[in-house]
Amino acid sequence: MAPVAQRVRGTQDLLPADRPYWDLMERAASETAGRAGYQRIETPVFEASELFKRSAGEGSDVVSKEMYSFTDRGGRSLSLRPEGTAPIVRAYFDGGLDQEPQPARLYYVGPFFRYDRPQAGRYRQFHQFGIEAIGEVHALLDVEAIQVGWEWFRRLGVGDLALKLNSIGDEVCRPAYREMLRDYYRPHLADLSEDSRLRFEKNPLRLFDSKDPEDQPYKERAPRIVDHLCAPCAEAFQIVQAGLRAEGISFELDPTLVRGLDYYTRTVFEFQHGSLSGAQNALGGGGRYDGLAAELGYRATPGIGFALGLERTLLILRQLGESAVEGPDVYAVALQPADQAYAGRLASSLRARGLRVVLDPGEARLDARLRKAARRGARVAVIIGPDERARGEAVIRDMRLKTQATVPEGEIVAAVTRTLGEI
Ligand code: HAM
Repeated sequence: MAPVAQRVRGTQDLLPADRPYWDLMERAASETAGRAGYQRIETPVFEASELFKRSAGEGSDVVSKEMYSFTDRGGRSLSLRPEGTAPIVRAYFDGGLDQEPQPARLYYVGPFFRYDRPQAGRYRQFHQFGIEAIGEVHALLDVEAIQVGWEWFRRLGVGDLALKLNSIGDEVCRPAYREMLRDYYRPHLADLSEDSRLRFEKNPLRLFDSKDPEDQPYKERAPRIVDHLCAPCAEAFQIVQAGLRAEGISFELDPTLVRGLDYYTRTVFEFQHGSLSGAQNALGGGGRYDGLAAELGYRATPGIGFALGLERTLLILRQLGESAVEGPDVYAVALQPADQAYAGRLASSLRARGLRVVLDPGEARLDARLRKAARRGARVAVIIGPDERARGEAVIRDMRLKTQATVPEGEIVAAVTRTLGEI
């Protein structure tokens, strides 16, 4: 009989083998963000569709093609969140965080949803670690945000990281630049890809996002926004670059970096990794969004943040080859069913000392069970047979040295800890 249902396309199960990597990533998130004063926030996984439509821009793929939207029984249009920034800006005002000392420094770890064609590093449900600092316009906060992201990767041991940096100006300087870009592209429209012709109409900055080969020569010769920033934007961009240099964070200026969401102003950045392929090479990205709050109908309030993809980072951690899966400290084996209760009691007392103890439930031959202990990565085996039970003893086996000794019950904890310590 075939199973009645399959795992939904683009979703993944988080199996125990990967759990240690996730624990590492989550711990690194709370520690790096926490140490810089960021506090955890959680918002619902669904929101009014309008929130995302207004924030990301109708021209962005994330909203126009990739949203999981549905009408609930009350006739409201809701969407599974494709990203975290707009919900957090909403929560910042809803929760009165705008009344507290500014900026509000917030971080989050959780699932997001985009209906895109699944492939390695691209899923329909994926997870992000993100931070948002809302309520302060100073460019030093941009440096702080980038530094938190950089530190997260460093802690996880992810090297070979390229930080791409750009400024895309603000409502003062961007409109003139946008027209300049249209003027530049207009004579070449017939030679551009179809997608690019659409972008020309909707949002010419997104012409830089094109991966189509026929568009590339035009991209390279296009006017660069960094050469056309207004004075405050140019000054902010200098502060960001000087701040990053002072922190020892290397970056590459990339005048074609525009990002896929329309709410950005001034600083935008991306963390890219050499080993990930083309379109999926961004491990994360972010930027400033000083116009977003007003766009959502709130008092104009600046913000800056990023989101880093956990699934893509997991691909790198796995490539690093180091297994994050730790075996148990102790694998306890009772030779006969009558020995199980005694073995169970010993296991409990070892667990009470903070050790990870796995109790073998079977009745297979001892050598087969010791092979199982080795495969699980156990460092010590505790073996109980009828003799040990009768005399109140246990055999403590060092799984790596393959040596063992019989010790009385009162000394088992000390013997196990000693053996663990010697490894
Ligand atoms: P984003 O660039 O759309 O930015 O997403 C950030 C990261 O989430 C990506 O670099 C990638 O690692 C991961 N990601 C996105 N889509 C998928 C997918 N379909 N499958 C797997 N991973 C994915 C944002 O979401 C902004 N909210 C970032 C931000 C925060 N900007 C300011 N504050």
